[in-house]
Amino acid sequence: MNLVKNIYRTFLLLLAVVQFSADLSANVAVPGPEVIIPVPMDAVRLDGTLVLPENASFCINADSSVDADDVQALAAYIEDSPLGFLQTGQRKADVKINIAKGNKSLKRALKPFSIIPDRLDEAYSLEVSGTGITIDAMAPAGALYAIQGLMQMTRDATLMELQCCRIVDAPRFAYRGLMVDVSRHFRSVDFLKRQMDAMALYKLNRMHLHLTDAAGWRIEIEAYPRLTEFGAWRPQRKWMDWAAEGSMYCERETPSAYGGYYTKDDIRDLLEYAMVRNIEIIPEIEMPGHSEELIASYPQLGCSGEPYMHGDVCPGNEETFTFLETVLSEVMDLFPSEYIHIGGDEAGKGAWHTCPKCQRRMEEEGLGGVDELQSYLIHRIEEFVNSKGRKIIGWDEIMEGGLAPNATVMSWRGSEQGIAAAKSGHDVIMTPGAYCYIDYNQDAPFKEPLSIGGYTPLSKVYSYEPMESGVTDEDMKHMLGVQANLWSEYVTEDSHAEYMYYPRALAVAEIGWSRPGQKDYDAFRERALDALDQLQARGYNTFDLRNEYGERQASLNAEEHLARGAKVIYANAWHPKYPAAGESTLTDGLLGGWTYGDRRWQGFLTDIDVTVDLGKIQPVRYIGATFMQSPGSWVYFPEQVRISVSSDGNAYREIAVVNNEFPYRDPEIAFMPFAYAGETEARYIRLEADVHTRPGSWLFLDEIVVH
Ligand code: ACM
Ligand code: ZN
Repeated sequence: MNLVKNIYRTFLLLLAVVQFSADLSANVAVPGPEVIIPVPMDAVRLDGTLVLPENASFCINADSSVDADDVQALAAYIEDSPLGFLQTGQRKADVKINIAKGNKSLKRALKPFSIIPDRLDEAYSLEVSGTGITIDAMAPAGALYAIQGLMQMTRDATLMELQCCRIVDAPRFAYRGLMVDVSRHFRSVDFLKRQMDAMALYKLNRMHLHLTDAAGWRIEIEAYPRLTEFGAWRPQRKWMDWAAEGSMYCERETPSAYGGYYTKDDIRDLLEYAMVRNIEIIPEIEMPGHSEELIASYPQLGCSGEPYMHGDVCPGNEETFTFLETVLSEVMDLFPSEYIHIGGDEAGKGAWHTCPKCQRRMEEEGLGGVDELQSYLIHRIEEFVNSKGRKIIGWDEIMEGGLAPNATVMSWRGSEQGIAAAKSGHDVIMTPGAYCYIDYNQDAPFKEPLSIGGYTPLSKVYSYEPMESGVTDEDMKHMLGVQANLWSEYVTEDSHAEYMYYPRALAVAEIGWSRPGQKDYDAFRERALDALDQLQARGYNTFDLRNEYGERQASLNAEEHLARGAKVIYANAWHPKYPAAGESTLTDGLLGGWTYGDRRWQGFLTDIDVTVDLGKIQPVRYIGATFMQSPGSWVYFPEQVRISVSSDGNAYREIAVVNNEFPYRDPEIAFMPFAYAGETEARYIRLEADVHTRPGSWLFLDEIVVH
């Protein structure tokens, strides 16, 4: 018996030795700088490893150029962080942190790189040697970021052995942002703090708080208490339920009231938490559109004076400016941020055409239309904000009707708007929807939680490069950076929000921090898998990148069929916004992916009536057209599809009528072929599809497949 045991033990030991040498040969057992997100500017692995003791110690050596309170705050941060290092005196410290504005050692290390001066505060060097760790920085922000690298390499100090290495690092862009939409669903102070912890870990340094929108006003304003007694609450929790019941508000005391807002003390608490993590919180107060909740609270600020009539405030009414300036004053008294976001997107402007006050304003100011009226409002607000020593950011619609002179543009509808603004000398923040809107699905819709639709996987986000063709070095000076936006209509739960942020926020972090030449998606994905494990270990809910399904299979390879390359005649034109490949779209063999925005789906706001010419009469067994439904975006299956065939292009015979039985109230994204199967002959195939009767519905079709 003993003998058997011994043999078994020897076997285990041998197995362990084999395993150990395998690890050594792969040289991945001890993590080094290659695990860090975002990729550092320069990193080399050195020979040897450092074994940190449990409860490793640190000291901060700062000169008089550094605010003592900031040093204190950084020390407290490190002690409270998952690293749990303990502060000690110079000589004994395992981690020595030197902070000085003129830090010579860091200056020397940065010499080979050209770093824009305003990025130096975030720069750092980090050296891990056999005897200890040395961090050099010019400001606490740089030291903070070196510490984040340590957290990633040590897995929050659960791994004590580190690869010796030397890192020299500085950001590419000054602005690396994450937007949190707290209007559609209110999020707690704790939730925001948790996201700031993660932001710091990946060197994201701006949190844009979307504080006001139709779904609820989220900040206490002393001069206008109705905003938070009434405008911050609604009877239904879920977006679709709220919309189905008419998008109404309710008194705070209503038993079912759902919502919330931040008190001024909450904001002060958040600001302090943010500052230690090198995060600037930028508040957004939406105007003139997306303002239903404020008009419901103060109906006199809408053109008709009635609640539930308008989304836009009335720029003809002087009281509107009193309101906006009072609100902004309270906001600026609270937030120290350089920028105040004033919204500016998607104003309908409908009531302005007929409102007597708006008409009088346009006449008195010599304004040539409602776009100029919006521009008038933004200009006035900009002047007010500038007079308090701050700058405005607005969504790219603020360019319409004349851009306010000092405004920074947040480019969301595409990147063209931002590039145009940069070329006209304005600063811009790039958040193009196709890459930076992370409310879109990140995987196949059938396995994702209900969302607004779309398909923006991690690889798509990561592929965004602000310096695209046509952008010059001069333009780049106006590009402050990038931001990921999580609009939250359908993101009810906090855990769902985290699922949407991680890992896609990490991709934006790397776009914002690292150099374009360092980008490599496969390598990033490996690091992201590892980072997600760490985030999960810290209790975050993340997307399961390891089991990503990926793009719609049918779209991956071109489909061979009888109509491929055939001419298509359109009785009704496609919508100019969604041409896909124009008149070759429906017979190019290319099926669409998970989103109608991928330029393979052709979009129509009318009935579809197209005829395919096969060139000669031939036997046909199958004619099918797959449509997409995405109710969050008003995309529906057709009511009915009719297929008819002809030999001469004159006389047609109807061979299939397919009625849509699919419930349009089902909010999920779906794909469905409407098809004929049988035995027939045809040269011409006519396909008619009736657009859904709900007003404003889209039809999206990718291919007419014939066998
Ligand atoms: C936006 O997505 N309306 C800025
Ligand atoms: Zn008006």
